[in-house]
Amino acid sequence: MSALILALDATSRNEALAIAESTARYIDAIKIGYPLVLGAGLSVAGEIAALGVPVIADFKVADIPNTNTLICDSVFQAGCSAVICHAFPGSDSLAACVGSAHDHGGECFVVCEMSHPGGAEWFSGGVAESFCMMAAGAGADGIIAPATRPARVAALRELIGTRKIYSPGVGAQGASPEDVKELVDGIIVGRAIYGAADPAAAAAEYSRRCR
Ligand code: XMP
Repeated sequence: MSALILALDATSRNEALAIAESTARYIDAIKIGYPLVLGAGLSVAGEIAALGVPVIADFKVADIPNTNTLICDSVFQAGCSAVICHAFPGSDSLAACVGSAHDHGGECFVVCEMSHPGGAEWFSGGVAESFCMMAAGAGADGIIAPATRPARVAALRELIGTRKIYSPGVGAQGASPEDVKELVDGIIVGRAIYGAADPAAAAAEYSRRCR
């Protein structure tokens, strides 16, 4: 049983808000990132949050600690509830993201292994496990792990314990909610919902399958 998170990668504000409104009753959070924010501006985060849906900022923050703090502070001031960051810049950079999140009453999630085929090239062989341990050590609220590789999610669950796992890769990337819903806290679905002919109906169906 998992929450359903809509990855809202529509690139226009009006389209994004229309999809957010029509799907809000079926989803638990909306994840926004560069595709939407570069088109609509960061203020769209507050407009989505005003619908009563928590907003997760997927900026995969990956810079020096001071820059990470500046980015994350902006994200939370704009109305987001959580931010996604990378671990590879190091524990001090990660700590800056976690610190900003917690200073604002928000959450920080750490990319541990990515869901696309190329993600298997770099994250296997212990790197994902190291990122997972860094996330726990930094006090992050959870990690991002690939629904496209359920065995890897299970391995990372062993390490991360009761912290949250959010999992992308369901729908357009080929995974099904049933592959990981018992392993994770949130399933992230993008194109299969926002790109559907009827996004609300698609969200309702994914919501049913995530429970
Ligand atoms: P689709 O359309 O493929 O969208 O359902 C997936 C969404 O999730 C993002 N994504 C990831 N984010 N780690 C992340 O932090 C990942 O491994 C990952 N894989 C996909 C993607 O940018 C899109 O918004």
